[in-house]
Amino acid sequence: MAALPAVQDYRALAHKRLARMARDYLEGGAEDLRTLGRNRKAYDALLFKPTVLTDVTSVDASVEVLGQPLAMPAVVGPTGLNGLYYPRAEEALATAAHRAGLPFVVSTASTSLLEDVRRASDGELWLQLYVQRDRGISQRMMERARAAGYSVLMLTVDTPVHGVRDHDIRNGFKMPLRITSRLMADVITHPRWCLRMLRQGGSPQLVNLARSAGTAVNLAAQAAAMSRQMDMSLDWQDIDWLRAHWPGRLLVKGILSVDDALKARATGVDGIVLSNHGGRQLESAPSPLELLPAVAEAAGSAMTVMMDGGIRRGSDIVKARALGAQAVLLGRAPLYGLAARGPRGVDEVLQILRRECETTLRLLGCPRAAELSPSVFQPAWKERLKAL
Ligand SMILES: Cc1cc2nc3c(=O)[nH]c(=O)nc-3n(C[C@H](O)[C@H](O)[C@H](O)COP(=O)(O)O)c2cc1C
Repeated sequence: MAALPAVQDYRALAHKRLARMARDYLEGGAEDLRTLGRNRKAYDALLFKPTVLTDVTSVDASVEVLGQPLAMPAVVGPTGLNGLYYPRAEEALATAAHRAGLPFVVSTASTSLLEDVRRASDGELWLQLYVQRDRGISQRMMERARAAGYSVLMLTVDTPVHGVRDHDIRNGFKMPLRITSRLMADVITHPRWCLRMLRQGGSPQLVNLARSAGTAVNLAAQAAAMSRQMDMSLDWQDIDWLRAHWPGRLLVKGILSVDDALKARATGVDGIVLSNHGGRQLESAPSPLELLPAVAEAAGSAMTVMMDGGIRRGSDIVKARALGAQAVLLGRAPLYGLAARGPRGVDEVLQILRRECETTLRLLGCPRAAELSPSVFQPAWKERLKAL
């Protein structure tokens, strides 16, 4: 079967394939979905200003971020519980990212061991870290990632508690999945999804967390409980503690203000990810895109600035890069591919985004992604972003 035209087609197919509980977990946002909606609206506010009659015979979407070459300004971002969509999901995402010339970020809440992901892929792997109350778990996770050759640590700081997600409460969504009458009804009406889950031996498990917790009995349930025990005391001073355990590159993900970007810069981290967690955490948070110009200016050349939220088109990636993000994280988009068509679907989604990126660069008359700047927008871009 031929590839579908756009990411939204994979989204629509994923909706058909997934049990309701898995679809809601993937798509959902916090409270009344204001932040989730705002993430997309921000791209709509920006209008391009093309420069015509420019030689665009050759186009180059590649950039360098943290010393690593990326085929386009994007990284396949960290998402937990990916086994809800397809067996061995992290291995599939890592290998597809590598084929597309992009790094892949493995989540603390991954459903494959970080060592297994490494065995599946020779590509660049980064680790996303949630710090639990038992700091030993994080220490062991970092040691394992170092030993497996992960190059970048991404500390997520916007999740001291989970955001309010009504749909998950309604669906009784808890890890590991428990068989309830509601789940049974959901499963029976989605036999293809049910077969996928059976192929991986039932409910996906937080095996990565369980391995670092090092407990022997009922690992999965304990890991699930621990995933809800974030260390709420974590503060800026703990960056030193992380540094002591992680000698590689360090990013802080979940920044949403210039003030916090400056604090991050003062700690000497290598970079930040402007993010509202795909609209899943704090309701009525701003969209990262609208903060990007001011944060990029504050960061200067001292640290890398990345952003995420709502990337569904190659033109979205171009807009983010032009406003000062060195690269974006792709959250849901590759997961739509995975849920719709398995590993092949991830390849297709990443190819679509790259192709759209290149087309946008050509139509803009700015064929090199590395040279993008706000000059590719109509003059009123600042006002339009402010008016969001
Ligand atoms: C289903 C799902 C699970 C996620 N799990 C994590 C996670 O484990 N760690 C993390 O730092 N961010 C997590 N995120 C947030 C993403 O890394 C990213 O910030 C967000 O998805 C970007 O928005 P987008 O999905 O609109 O592209 C998750 C997002 C989704 C949609």
